[in-house]
Amino acid sequence: MTQLKNKVALITGGGSGIGRATAVLFAQEGAQVAVADVNLDTAEETVQMITDSGGQAFAFQADVSRADDVQAMVGEVVARYGRLDCAFNNAGIEGLPTRTMDVTEADFDRIIAVNLKGVWLCLKYELEQMVAQGGGAIVNTASVAGLTGAHSMPAYAASKHGVVGLTRTAAVEYGRKNIRINAVCPAVIETPMVTRGFETLPQFLEATIRINPMRRLGQAEEVARAVLWLCSDSASFTNGAALTVDGGFTAQ
Ligand SMILES: NC(=O)c1ccc[n+]([C@@H]2O[C@H](COP(=O)([O-])OP(=O)(O)OC[C@H]3O[C@@H](n4cnc5c(N)ncnc54)[C@H](O)[C@@H]3O)[C@@H](O)[C@H]2O)c1
Repeated sequence: MTQLKNKVALITGGGSGIGRATAVLFAQEGAQVAVADVNLDTAEETVQMITDSGGQAFAFQADVSRADDVQAMVGEVVARYGRLDCAFNNAGIEGLPTRTMDVTEADFDRIIAVNLKGVWLCLKYELEQMVAQGGGAIVNTASVAGLTGAHSMPAYAASKHGVVGLTRTAAVEYGRKNIRINAVCPAVIETPMVTRGFETLPQFLEATIRINPMRRLGQAEEVARAVLWLCSDSASFTNGAALTVDGGFTAQ
């Protein structure tokens, strides 16, 4: 359990679901972890889970769509731990299921602001630090909706396709600086985000399970292990990948 020994990691959306599972796993693997979330209470809960098991972490409140918050977040990590080795840009929102012509401008703008601009802002300030210190590894959370269309999720799918584009572009730009930038593309994972969705549309739970080759939902820990690999030295020549964690959904 030492894949991230002596590493400093920052995780956005660390108060819930995939972000929380990754924060806990990173701490188990020896990293000092900054748990950032717009919801400070849930970020603090994650920190409590980590410190209760002997790990090191702190919570930070940041809305990733706001440049000031993101700059302060990265600054706080460096102030506390001295550097930034691994960043998991994972905070995201799903919006209500709505077909393309019915989405409101406000909903479209908010989803793009959090899911796409938020990832770009994180990259901007994280890269500044990683270039200065001479290396690092970044993973962005895209989705299978970043690779295929997603019925009734036009803004979400557009934002996640954008995350894949940002990831590939940054990978091409910063590989020579010893910084690797990859994305994970999960299918439906059993997290509070998805539980909320199935409460609104319960008939989709069975359908979602039926159309996945593995006939089940994914678990947050399964995504966390892929993110760990991408951040670790084991993935030392993997750069610009959009790694599916989808049970084979996009292979069909
Ligand atoms: N669960 C899935 O099926 C699934 C599939 C593919 C991709 N994803 C993506 O994985 C990521 C995590 O999703 P999850 O399922 O764990 O969801 P979740 O709702 O359980 O967790 C998301 C976290 O992000 C935080 N957050 C929301 N807006 C924020 C903002 N503006 N600034 C900072 N933090 C903010 C929330 O407070 C929450 O703690 C998201 O980017 C999501 O789009 C999820």
